[in-house]
Amino acid sequence: MTDPGAVIAAARDRQAIDGRLMRDWVRAIVEGQVPDYQIAAWLMAVTLNGLDDDAVFALTQAMADIGTEPLAHAGRVDKHSTGGVGDKTTLILAPLVSSLGIPIIKMSGRGLGHTGGTLDKLESIPGFRIHLGRDEISRQVDAVGVAVVAQSGSLAPADGILYALRDVTGTVDSLPLIASSIMSKKIAAGSPNLVLDVKVGSGALMKSAGRARELADLMVRIGAHHHIRTTAVLTSMEQPLGRAVGNALEVNEALACLAGRGPSDLTEDVLVLAQEMIALGLHVPAREARMLAEKALASGAAQQQFLRWVEAQGGDVHAVESGLPVAARTPVVATSTGRVVAIDTEAVGRAAQLLGAGRKTKEDRVNPRVGLEWEVRLGDMIHPGEILAWVYADESGPAGAASDLIHKAVGVGADSADPPFATEVRRMHD
Ligand code: URA
Repeated sequence: MTDPGAVIAAARDRQAIDGRLMRDWVRAIVEGQVPDYQIAAWLMAVTLNGLDDDAVFALTQAMADIGTEPLAHAGRVDKHSTGGVGDKTTLILAPLVSSLGIPIIKMSGRGLGHTGGTLDKLESIPGFRIHLGRDEISRQVDAVGVAVVAQSGSLAPADGILYALRDVTGTVDSLPLIASSIMSKKIAAGSPNLVLDVKVGSGALMKSAGRARELADLMVRIGAHHHIRTTAVLTSMEQPLGRAVGNALEVNEALACLAGRGPSDLTEDVLVLAQEMIALGLHVPAREARMLAEKALASGAAQQQFLRWVEAQGGDVHAVESGLPVAARTPVVATSTGRVVAIDTEAVGRAAQLLGAGRKTKEDRVNPRVGLEWEVRLGDMIHPGEILAWVYADESGPAGAASDLIHKAVGVGADSADPPFATEVRRMHD
């Protein structure tokens, strides 16, 4: 058995440990041989001192290796987002990219934190099944080219243990721990190509572009070390993505985007991410991949594929086509004149959570019908009485609290707003 004291001291003193020791350490954690206080001490030492690349590669490898066998089938391209408010891109990208003959299998976790995750959004479709067996996944991907399913608890189980402790010990915000957490799950899932959507701004884990670039570049280096062609795309999370925040509302917006009627920021994020996924999946230059993505949206092929996928996974296609039901809505109106210079997007996420669109604890159930719809964007001029957003709620108490949060979240000023963060693509492969 590893000596936990020695591993903790090495992290404290910035000393290297070799790959075998790292593997033994991670295994001991997964096997329950290390008490939480020692794991927490190590997490804090890593958060304060960082890890060099060799140690991050070893940690990621160890976390990826301990767990179940990979699926018989892996998709050709995987995708991951570091998470944001109104981020429904997977619902659009999975059918869009697979409509071009690129098999997609995506394993998602549940959303914990302000808004629901991809699985919560999919479960707002009546009948949609997120738990599929290995054979079912293979059959579905052979038949329709796409499956999005719940990540099994035995995929990279070290991450679940470490993440739960990070959450309560002030050690979430560590680049090596975030990068190894994300990349270990992606390596274990087995896809040879990966596109990472690294969100930047007030609603993201990475608040500044500089830190987002550091995280993106570290994950791209981990990918290269593991022979996964990895592209990171930095995208703005300075305001909610698209207009809808909330589970059924986001599914409805995703379908509108697939029909060519999506908000421009959402459509542009989807096209950039699709471009990078298609370039990796078909080995074509980015410009050609972008044209293929635009055509799949414009021709209706991506929309048809969405409906085929929903049906294959047991979802009620008619309910989706006629618009999923949502709660009654009330407007939140502006009380002053000026330009929208900032949106505290994390507070917007908290407003959605208050309504029941996200969870406070793992056991909470999300309400698919509730959420928000945004009317204003950064840089817009507003006047008293104009609608900032709509609150969709089933109860008046949370609706009032969410409206208050929205009022506080929208910063109104006399100056022009800073230009929004411009998307960046970062990669090491050709
Ligand atoms: N997402 C993850 O999967 N892990 C982290 O540590 C942070 C975001």
